Amino acid sequence: MEMIKLDISNALTNEKVKEAYKALLPKGLECNTSLHKGDGKGSDFLGWVNLPSEVSPELLSDLQSTVDMLRRDCEFVVAIGIGGSYLGTKAVVEALSDSFAQLKGGDTPTLLYAGNHISEDYLYELLELLKGRKFGLINISKSGTTTEPALAFRLLKALLEAQEGKDFARAHIVAITDAQKGALRSLATTEGYKTYVIPDDVGGRFSVLTPVGLLPIAVAGFDIKALVQGALDMAHTLITETTAEVNLAVQYAAVRNALYLHGKKIEILANFHPKMHFIAEWWKQLFGESEGKENKGLFNAAVDLTTDLHSMGQWIQEGERNIFETFLSIETPRHKVIIPEDKADLDGLNYIAGKRVDEVNKMAEIGTRLAHLDGGVPNIRISLPELNEYYIGQLFYFFEKAVGISGYLLEVNPFDQPGVEAYKTNMFALLEKPGYEEQTAEIKKRLS
Ligand code: PA5
Repeated sequence: MEMIKLDISNALTNEKVKEAYKALLPKGLECNTSLHKGDGKGSDFLGWVNLPSEVSPELLSDLQSTVDMLRRDCEFVVAIGIGGSYLGTKAVVEALSDSFAQLKGGDTPTLLYAGNHISEDYLYELLELLKGRKFGLINISKSGTTTEPALAFRLLKALLEAQEGKDFARAHIVAITDAQKGALRSLATTEGYKTYVIPDDVGGRFSVLTPVGLLPIAVAGFDIKALVQGALDMAHTLITETTAEVNLAVQYAAVRNALYLHGKKIEILANFHPKMHFIAEWWKQLFGESEGKENKGLFNAAVDLTTDLHSMGQWIQEGERNIFETFLSIETPRHKVIIPEDKADLDGLNYIAGKRVDEVNKMAEIGTRLAHLDGGVPNIRISLPELNEYYIGQLFYFFEKAVGISGYLLEVNPFDQPGVEAYKTNMFALLEKPGYEEQTAEIKKRLS
């Protein structure tokens, strides 16, 4: 099998950036070693490093029986979760699904999502859709206490129980959470739900290769063994490549930090296939939550191209020069569409007749990379031979390793997320949650 490729030549056109990159490479290699030795910051959360080799045949076969049950009995399965308990699944399922799967129908249960925001209209519309339909729930929360999924689960559980009775509900609700802690663990134990454990040492945004991602991805009909195999092969490469110049994760971490040190404060992940939109969302969480702390860190943005070339393209070409781009490219699309010849040629497109649509897309990509580079936007290119489970597995692990190294180069703890508590404290205070009395009084004073 091939490996994904990294091209950083368009990122090193500035001599100062090149120098910084060279200086960061050996440090990056040390950071990679630290991740394996466990002697760096946040070392309690390094379970993801060896995770691909720890997905056992027993776990896979247990997951398969749950998948079989849900696929046999349910028209819809709702995956409930937010952040790392949502985005990995969404990324894989969107990347690999037929763009019109929901309209074409099919024999798998449709995977739906809830608990990744607090929109009342969305929840109303979801509940309306599920009325009178057979459905199951996969409730995912590492902490087991996150408000968004807990709220969605309460509503969906009530509907399922009212519709099918307690026994059916019990048999078709699966909880994925901590082994011991949290409200979801106690709820699942009390109700007698089937559960899977998220290991203590695997943080939410690194959990896609645990049951958090594996179960819903398999329910949606995708090959989780290939996903894990891709991650495993990438893990092997990134530990055995001990020369900084050839270790892709070290290179990517070093080049983005070199650019950051020289004024490029925003990294834009650009894809050329709308199916990859949620891979970018997953990446945004992984990098944003891991590095954005202590008033440091690149801001992670994403664009879907060529779509956004007709909106944000102007800003990227000529706006403030504090950005660089990382292009996520697919070498060969799954399907072939040839542009037909048209006798009248009224649209003037005969000059591309006979070509694959993807050839036009690729020329747009090359043209964009060059244009943006000329406009002062350096770029990196990561390419996947194809969009499938195996290469997404490689990509996931590559980015996880890279963010660990990159966070260490930035001298932050890439494995915590203290900043996400601030909004929660305010929300709980405003909702007058028991235990938040002092904060409630303070916030009321502030708002009066
Ligand atoms: O990476 C993280 O830890 C977070 O983004 C979590 O994934 C997110 O907050 C959801 O948390 P939980 O799974 O505990 O509900």
